[in-house]
Amino acid sequence: AAKKRVFSGIQPTGKIHIGNYVGALSLWVENQKKYDNIFCIVDLHSLTIPENIDPKYLRKKVKEIAALYLACGIDPQESTIFVQSHVPQHAELTWLLNCVTPMGWLQRMTQFKDKSKKSDSVSTALFDYPVLMASDILLYQTDLVPVGEDQKQHIEITRDIAQRFNHLYGDTFKIPKELIKKSGARIMGFDDPENKMSKSTGEIKARHSIGLLDSKADIKNTIMKATTDSNREFRFDHASAGVKNMLVLYENLSGKSRSKIEAHFAGSNYGQLKRELVELTIENLEPIQKEYQRIIKEDSYLDDILEKGQKKASQIAAKTLAEVKKNMGL
Ligand code: ADP
Ligand code: NA
Repeated sequence: AAKKRVFSGIQPTGKIHIGNYVGALSLWVENQKKYDNIFCIVDLHSLTIPENIDPKYLRKKVKEIAALYLACGIDPQESTIFVQSHVPQHAELTWLLNCVTPMGWLQRMTQFKDKSKKSDSVSTALFDYPVLMASDILLYQTDLVPVGEDQKQHIEITRDIAQRFNHLYGDTFKIPKELIKKSGARIMGFDDPENKMSKSTGEIKARHSIGLLDSKADIKNTIMKATTDSNREFRFDHASAGVKNMLVLYENLSGKSRSKIEAHFAGSNYGQLKRELVELTIENLEPIQKEYQRIIKEDSYLDDILEKGQKKASQIAAKTLAEVKKNMGL
């Protein structure tokens, strides 16, 4: 049987962090051989936040994310890597899907509610973000979308849009499903364990996140100052949010079982957990950082991969879009 198609992406803005790695990137790498993979750098999504407008920064960030994909283990022989804006069908399909998407569906999106609260000039594009994301996924007749927990609602609306389109115009899109890890799909901020770690917060607040490119000193500082409590509770189901967050990171970065981890830390103190998590994090990030430093210097190599990716993605996207337009009478 043909391999199932996987599609996912990351926005080229802010400080790419250990949550993006544990919740998304590591899952892509882990399943790479099993699926037919398409990984996108979603630059059009970045433009939905007006604060992000800086052409030089965006161009630099696109390269950074591409190099990080590779450094984390995405293999261009196994996976297609491309930049969203290089394939114009994403924007074109968004218009067509806008025409079948009720505004009420978008008004319910919690990410829009959160993000629009934080900004004083909310763009139309921020409101429409989920339709662009639906286009990204549906253009490639995707089976599975490996993402963090925060994207679950966006995959649900993608399914709703696809079903509505198929109902109105006949079977056109495959109905995708999310692929979300049982543990590690929602890493919290070290400074504020009630809120998820985020790329934008990480860029402006020290000790919120661990960036994949952070120095050892910064990693140590962030973890050693992470929010805890005055107990000594290391059980996953009883620990406070900040401690649980570190236990979940430990679990994901070590590959050890929860019962082993609980037994290992029982009777110790949070300082011990923090010190071991610092070591483990550095151990995991060191090889990624080395690879990154090597790859980021090879600008033409990166351009070459993104150009090949663009060609491959364009073929699939063009085929789907032609079908969509034909079915709509265009
Ligand atoms: P962010 O939300 O940090 O700005 P993106 O929106 O570009 O980053 O998301 C990239 C991927 O990383 C998505 O699959 C998203 O669900 C995942 N992700 C983002 N934040 C976290 C987190 N704190 N924990 C786990 N996964 C996350
Ligand atoms: Na996000």
